[in-house]
Amino acid sequence: SHTSLTDPFGRRIDYLRLSVTDRCDLRCGYCLPKGFKGFAEPAHWLTFDEIERVVGAFTALGVRRVRLTGGEPLMRRGLTELAGRLSALPGLDDLSLSSNATRLESLAAPLARAGVRRLNVSLDSLRPEVFRQITGGDLERVLRGIAAAQKADMNPIRVNTVVMRGVNDDEIQDILDYCAARGFTLRLIETMPMGATGQAAASACGDLEPIKRRLEQRFELIPDILPGGGPARYYRVAGSETRLGFITPLSQHFCATCNRVRLSVDGTLHLCLGQDHCYPLRDLLRGGIGAAELQGHLRQALALKPERHAFNERPGQIVRFMSMTGG
Ligand code: GTP
Ligand code: 5AD
Ligand code: SF4
Repeated sequence: SHTSLTDPFGRRIDYLRLSVTDRCDLRCGYCLPKGFKGFAEPAHWLTFDEIERVVGAFTALGVRRVRLTGGEPLMRRGLTELAGRLSALPGLDDLSLSSNATRLESLAAPLARAGVRRLNVSLDSLRPEVFRQITGGDLERVLRGIAAAQKADMNPIRVNTVVMRGVNDDEIQDILDYCAARGFTLRLIETMPMGATGQAAASACGDLEPIKRRLEQRFELIPDILPGGGPARYYRVAGSETRLGFITPLSQHFCATCNRVRLSVDGTLHLCLGQDHCYPLRDLLRGGIGAAELQGHLRQALALKPERHAFNERPGQIVRFMSMTGG
């Protein structure tokens, strides 16, 4: 129909992941290029007006979920204002955020007021020195940020843990306990080979199946369905309200049910996380393109969406770092 976006494989696209910066205050080895820095906002970054036009074109075509990503989205100046403008768009009924939580202590309440309901937060370790080794950051500050989000009634809150062999794979039970005590859902994630650093990290990480089996020796996992647009497969821990999810792009990919595309901060639409297919929108936006024409371009772009990623077949293929699209 005219108000929905469908790709050549019949998949309905209703979820946009919107990267508002490629910068981050942390330094996770699986995500960021080495030696990455910068302060001023480059001219090639989309402005809030330009972002609002693109997202408006997407919502006009039936996209109802938008997730703010980075880099670290809270590094983008004025994010609260942008969130307010986006959540006012007709048809957008799920505005969510993926964050490292370092700046949430002050920003959670204003973002919640601006319409950000759901929060996914990265947390790879509860041991301060391991956390610092993985991210370069301060665990206590992140935990305060997460607490502030809960206090601001962001709900649900989901914790993302990238599982790394020999680094944090002995902490899963502790992180699950932390989540269970607060009503958060834990999602374990397989490292994807994005960019040079992601490739190095991914080659040192195994699949999640042994981790799942180990957990199942302690408790029964009952398949469950949770609201959200992403690829996690969820379970409930029997006899509790605790939810646990697995995100397994490498061992059990979920491309057949893919419902999403990504916009990077330079105005490039990425049709698949694990492929290079993309469609540049920035020059069109700056050339003064109208709303109907922009929607036409989005439809054309969707025709380029590949069937699935090639992480397993060509692990070195994706030169782009995770920080360009925020997952
Ligand atoms: P909800 O389901 O709405 O809670 O969000 P989400 O899981 O889509 O978002 P989040 O940003 O928390 O992403 C969690 C992990 O899933 C990250 O490692 C993402 O890179 C990964 N992920 C999300 N969407 C895709 C996808 O389309 N393909 C692949 N390969 N990975 C994805
Ligand atoms: N592989 C898998 N997940 C990653 N993330 C960042 N880099 C990678 C990677 N190379 C995850 C983080 C963050 C989410 C948005 O993406 O856990 O929470
Ligand atoms: Fe969709 Fe590509 Fe992710 Fe597969 S890897 S789920 S096709 S974005």
